[in-house]
Amino acid sequence: MIKINLVKDLNKKNDLEIIFLNSLEKCADKKLLEELNFEIKDEASALLLESKKIYVAYEKDDFDSMAIAGASAVKKLKSTKFKRAKIVLNSKLEKSFSSLVQGAILGEYEFLKYKTKAKKTKIELDFVVSKNIEKFEKELKEAKIIADAVNKARDMVNTPPADFYPKTMAKIAKDLANDAKIQVKIEGEKYLDKNKMKSMLSVGRASVHESKLIHLSYKPKNAKKKVVLVGKGLTYDSGGLSLKPANFMVTMKADKSGGCAVLSTIWAIAKLNLPIEVHAIVGAVENMIGGNAYKPDDVLTAKNGKTIEVKNTDAEGRLVLCDCLCYAQDEIKDIDYIFNYATLTGACVVGVGEFTTGVMGNNDKLKSQVVKSAKEVGEYATALDFNRYLKQTLKSQVADICNISNSRYGGAITAGHFLDNFIYEENKNKWIHFDIAGPAFVEQAWGYNPFGASGAGVRTTVNFIKSMV
Ligand code: BES
Ligand code: ZN
Ligand code: ZN
Repeated sequence: MIKINLVKDLNKKNDLEIIFLNSLEKCADKKLLEELNFEIKDEASALLLESKKIYVAYEKDDFDSMAIAGASAVKKLKSTKFKRAKIVLNSKLEKSFSSLVQGAILGEYEFLKYKTKAKKTKIELDFVVSKNIEKFEKELKEAKIIADAVNKARDMVNTPPADFYPKTMAKIAKDLANDAKIQVKIEGEKYLDKNKMKSMLSVGRASVHESKLIHLSYKPKNAKKKVVLVGKGLTYDSGGLSLKPANFMVTMKADKSGGCAVLSTIWAIAKLNLPIEVHAIVGAVENMIGGNAYKPDDVLTAKNGKTIEVKNTDAEGRLVLCDCLCYAQDEIKDIDYIFNYATLTGACVVGVGEFTTGVMGNNDKLKSQVVKSAKEVGEYATALDFNRYLKQTLKSQVADICNISNSRYGGAITAGHFLDNFIYEENKNKWIHFDIAGPAFVEQAWGYNPFGASGAGVRTTVNFIKSMV
């Protein structure tokens, strides 16, 4: 637990002072720090016990470096028995206030729900400011909402599949909607059947848990734009009959990350009172095996009438998303942006690494805009371009399209092409597919991301939506 305060009083009692440095020159403790081999490198920190100081290095003053510095400061503080530290917000640090706060909250996060002996340490950070207190209060409030939203996504994603299935996801979505005072609609399998969403319905057929379609809407009176967010909510992906090997199945509780990201994002946008209409739609489904499981060789009909030949039941995310994308476009008119988020392909992780989101779509300008929105808030994203030849690899001999490519290569992009088949003509240039398979789940802690779910996508999207205001 971390509490962050703004204080005016320099003399307030604190256990320690945290000092951020990007040069050792002019530092009163230069000699001591050099003796400790302290270097100006991101993630470096040093505790000087006698003088009750924590020094934290930063290489640049961009979001990424400063958020990492905020996280390093908190980790160092937590490694001591001290509970409360102050940070004097000098003119050099002022513009990094939000990144320091977000880095501190995100870096402090721990998922302890299933640890019987874990002790929750409570720490407090006092940022000392001398002027413009209202401005910093506003920034603090906003930074807290955004970081809390990310941590909510992390909590959901980290929850084991026995305790988090489609109905649980729907219940949490309802709670989030009530908290943010926004509308919520939950539909079950009867609705999916009636509305011809047979592709999504088939994926969940062997599960003992009923699939759920979740739709949250935030409709402020003064809305300037309309944004639709669609998330893959596979509460577990065993692979289905095309079963995953044992070691690939581990972490597949995180296959709901896209869905969790869109729920957290809409919560944040509503809490921030932004004048943008936002919809969050999640296909919450469990992909299991059983006598009534959908099979390789099956042909499914999606909501838009297109037929899909199933060649691999582990390429299930796209089968859920295609119906959710059709639902979104049928239900919501005059969309300005339609973005989907999914841990869609292992190929994306192989292609761009585990830190980076693959950004796909038909509109190059929009792709670069969202990549920029990601970078501004320290999320890594890169555009992956479509092409006519990869598009052709989805051809099927028996149906309109196949759910996997006939090529071993380019799996992230062919999955994107598959989804493009379900984007209506009027929305082609408004659509972005985010493949978050890499960054959604952290197997080795990096930056301000501890082991486990990262909440990938939330901050990028909030930043993109903020930029429209
Ligand atoms: N959920 C997985 C993708 C994934 C893999 C996410 C690793 C995170 C880490 C997805 O449903 C899947 O299994 N995709 C297959 C597609 C293939 C059968 C074409 C994959 O990536 O192997
Ligand atoms: Zn799968
Ligand atoms: Zn999956």
